[in-house]
Amino acid sequence: PEVPLLAGKTVTITAGPTREALDPVRFISNHSSGKMGFALAEAALKLGAKVTLIAEPVSLSTPQGATRINVDSALDMRAAALEQAVQSDIFIGCAAVADYRPAVVAEQKMKKQGDELTITMVKNPDIIAEVAHLTENRPYTVGFAAETQDVANYAKGKLKNKKLDMICANDVSREGLGFNADSNALTLFWQDESVELPQSDKKELALTVLKRLATKLS
Ligand code: PMT
Repeated sequence: PEVPLLAGKTVTITAGPTREALDPVRFISNHSSGKMGFALAEAALKLGAKVTLIAEPVSLSTPQGATRINVDSALDMRAAALEQAVQSDIFIGCAAVADYRPAVVAEQKMKKQGDELTITMVKNPDIIAEVAHLTENRPYTVGFAAETQDVANYAKGKLKNKKLDMICANDVSREGLGFNADSNALTLFWQDESVELPQSDKKELALTVLKRLATKLS
């Protein structure tokens, strides 16, 4: 059994992709499986936290003891996230939130037309940045950065611009890691410090992340 480093803490975690509807039968999404976020939820429970998991209806089973909130689009996830964040000590944004959504959601199934189809997209709100900018009941806010190049610089930029307390950077161009894999490797950044966590199983990695986080908090 683990030392209950997060006993008495409430942790909210977003996980998996979002689905941005085009019409009643189609959506735009990404390859996030939810494994990393679900592993974080399991690890937080092991460390004694009360855990809420906000996710797409991905097929992974909810870690026993976690409260699960099913969401769909980024707007949907945002509403649930802001409601939970103010009741949480720690908020971790592990979800691969779509940066853009189709400007219009067709009410009926779109009909096949010409040889080309242009979809206009509009920007989604930045959920983790909104949480980090809360002025009352702001939780310790942890983001993820999924990068394919210049990982450290982009991650540090996101840490600063989104006003996060901590960011977990992964190089998602590496074969067998990141999206929809069982393993990952992360570099954790705070304003004044960083630590490299080498490749390992997401469950093991998640536990290391949360132990580091708990140490920083205490
Ligand atoms: O789910 P898995 O298959 O296990 O894969 C895990 C993962 C690769 C998805 C995960 O480790 C990861 O990197 N998650 C973040 C993915 C992402 O969207 O990264 P980003 O660099 O685009 O976003 C930076 C941060 O802003 C993230 O904390 C993200 O949740 C948040 N964000 C982004 C856009 C937006 N509109 N709102 C947000 O809150």
